[in-house]
Amino acid sequence: MKHPDSYLKACDSAHLQEGRHIICEVHYNHAPESIIVCRFKGQCYAYVNRCVHMPKRLNCEHDLLFDTTGQYLRCSMHGIIYTPETGISQSTMCNGEQLKAVKVIEVDGEIYFSDKHVSA
Ligand code: FES
Repeated sequence: MKHPDSYLKACDSAHLQEGRHIICEVHYNHAPESIIVCRFKGQCYAYVNRCVHMPKRLNCEHDLLFDTTGQYLRCSMHGIIYTPETGISQSTMCNGEQLKAVKVIEVDGEIYFSDKHVSA
């Protein structure tokens, strides 16, 4: 495994509690992009912050990302819900479509983007 120092840091682990998320403004494929990093059942997951329904950020209407059950990520525009582990839509609308996953790793209390498409 590459040393984490060669990766862009997302945040300290302590800043990403269970069922919470952060939004990171980075570059993805050399273009400015918003990335969601969330923690679900202890694991960290990251996705490009763009709904499969329309090119909207999931937090475009408000900053809550997990739905009221805490089991799904929910787009604040029209309410599509996504499985946090896969980013796959569970809603009738866009059923089966998937958020673009971004690789992250958690090492020694810090979370990094380990995705070659991500840069500062
Ligand atoms: S833009 Fe996300 S559900 Fe419509």
